[in-house]
Amino acid sequence: MTYNHSHEAFSQAARWLQSSQRIVAFTGAGISAESGIPTFRDSDGFWREFPPEQFAHWRGLIRTAFTDPVRLAAFVHAVIEPLGTAKPNAGHQALRVLEQHRKLIVVTQNIDGLHQAAGNECVQEIHGSLTEIALLSGKRQRTLAAAQVSQIAARLGHIKRRPLALVRMLFAIRPMLGAGLRGVWRPNVILFGEGLAEPAWSNAVTAAENCDCLLTIGTSGMVYPAAMLPAKAAASGAKVIHIDPTEGGTGLWLCGKAGDVLPPLIRAAFDDDMKGAN
Ligand code: APR
Repeated sequence: MTYNHSHEAFSQAARWLQSSQRIVAFTGAGISAESGIPTFRDSDGFWREFPPEQFAHWRGLIRTAFTDPVRLAAFVHAVIEPLGTAKPNAGHQALRVLEQHRKLIVVTQNIDGLHQAAGNECVQEIHGSLTEIALLSGKRQRTLAAAQVSQIAARLGHIKRRPLALVRMLFAIRPMLGAGLRGVWRPNVILFGEGLAEPAWSNAVTAAENCDCLLTIGTSGMVYPAAMLPAKAAASGAKVIHIDPTEGGTGLWLCGKAGDVLPPLIRAAFDDDMKGAN
C-alpha cells in the first residue's frame, strides 16, 4: 500500500467527510483500474492503443467498420472483455460503506456498472452504461447480463483478418448493436460529440451545487463538461478532496490508489460513528 500524502492531509480529509451531511463522489476510470478495466489515458490506457480521433465517436467507428472491421472488432473486444468478468474492488466497496454514514450521490463517468454492483443506491451515470441497450430514440430495450457480455467478447475474440470479417463482427455484437423491426438499437453510452445522459447530468450538476464535500476519485479531469463538477462544488462552498496516484493541481490531494486510500479514509472519518452506535 503506497500513499504519497501527508498524515495532515489525510486527517483533514477525514474531518471534512465527518463534518459533511451531503457528499458527492465523482469517479472516473481510475476507480475501476483495480477491477482489471484499463483507464483511457494511462500508459496502458485504451486511447494509447485505439486513438480517440478514430474510436471515440460514431463517424470514426462507422468508417473503421468499413475500412478495417478486424481493428474495430479488436477495439470493441478490448472495451467489453474486461466488463464480462470485472468485480467491484475495495474502492467501490468503501463508497458503499460511506453511503451508510452520509447522504452520498455517486456521479460516475464510467460505463461499467460497478458502483451499482457494489451496492450503491444513488448512482448518476453521466456517460451512460455499456450494458444498457436502447433504441436510437432513447427508448430502453434491455440490460445485458455479464455472461452475455462475456459471450459477445468471446465471439469478437475470434474475428480474424478473413473475408466477411465485418459480417462476422456485426453478428457477434448483435445483442448490443443491430437493427430490426423496432429500429436500430445500441449500447446507451455517450460518445464524443454527444450530449450527456439525462436526467443523470442535470442531477449531477444539482448534486455538486448542493453538497458539503465532493470527492474526485480516479479521473484525469480532462473531459468536459463532466470535469467542471469539482469547480461547481467548490464555487458553492463545498470542500473538494482529490484521490489519484498522480497529483494534478490545487486543492487537497490524497495520492494513492482508490482501493488503498478510500477504505482507511472512510474508517478514519466514521469509526467514531460506529463506536457511538455500539
Ligand atoms: N486509483 C485511483 N486513480 C487511478 C488508479 C487507481 N487505482 N489508476 C489510475 N488512476 C488515475 C490516473 O492517474 C488518471 O488520473 O485515474 C485517472 C484516469 O484518467 P482517464 O484515463 O483520463 O479516465 P477518465 O478521467 O475517467 O476519462 C474521462 O474520457 O475517454 C473519455 O468517456 C471517457 O469517461 C471517460 C472520460
